[in-house]
Amino acid sequence: MIRKATLKDTESIFTLSSNALDSTFNQDFINDYIIIDNIYHFFVLEENTNLLGFIILWESDKYGQIIDLVVTEEQRSKGYGKQLLTYGLDYLATLGVKTVTLEVKATNLVAIKLYELAGFRLDHTKKNYYGDTDGLFYLKEDLN
Ligand SMILES: CC(C)(COP(=O)(O)OP(=O)(O)OC[C@H]1O[C@@H](n2cnc3c(N)ncnc32)[C@H](O)[C@@H]1OP(=O)(O)O)[C@@H](O)C(=O)NCCC(=O)NCCS
Repeated sequence: MIRKATLKDTESIFTLSSNALDSTFNQDFINDYIIIDNIYHFFVLEENTNLLGFIILWESDKYGQIIDLVVTEEQRSKGYGKQLLTYGLDYLATLGVKTVTLEVKATNLVAIKLYELAGFRLDHTKKNYYGDTDGLFYLKEDLN
C-alpha cells in the first residue's frame, strides 16, 4: 500500500535512507518534507506496517521534481521502485504538472534503467556533480 508519509514514519525513513544513500537527509529535513506538504509530497510504501520504500516529490507552479526514491535493499528488483515512481508521476499529474525532472548519479544503472523505462530522457550531464561521479539530469515532458 502506498500512502502519504506522517511524522510517525520519520525514524523508519531515516534508517532506510541512511542505509541506501551516500548522503542522507537528517531527521529534521525528513520532518520538513513531510510537514510542508503543499510543496513536498512524501509517500511511503508499506506492507503489514513494514516500510519498504519511499518517494519524495516536489511541485511548484506545475513543475515537478523527483527528490528521492528508495526501496529497502532486501526488497529490490521486485517492482516496488516502479510502483512508487508510477504512483509519484500519477500524483504529480493530478496537480497539473506537465514536466518532471530528476538528477541521478551516472553510476546508478538500476535507477537510470527505471527512469528511462518510465519515459524520462537525458537532458544534460554535469561533470563530477557528485564528487568524482557525473550527474545525469533527466526530463519527462507531457505528463498525463
Ligand atoms: C533505484 C531503486 C529505487 C529501484 O527500485 P527497485 O524496486 O529495485 O526497482 P524495480 O524492481 O521496480 O525495477 C525497475 C527496473 O529497474 C531495472 N532493475 C531492477 N533491478 C535491477 C538489477 N538488479 N539489475 C539491473 N536492472 C535492474 C529493471 O529494468 C526494472 O524494470 P523491469 O523489471 O521492468 O525490467 C532501488 O534500487 C534503490 O532504492 N536504490 C538505492 C537508492 C537509489 O539509488 N535511489 C535512486 C536515487 S536517484
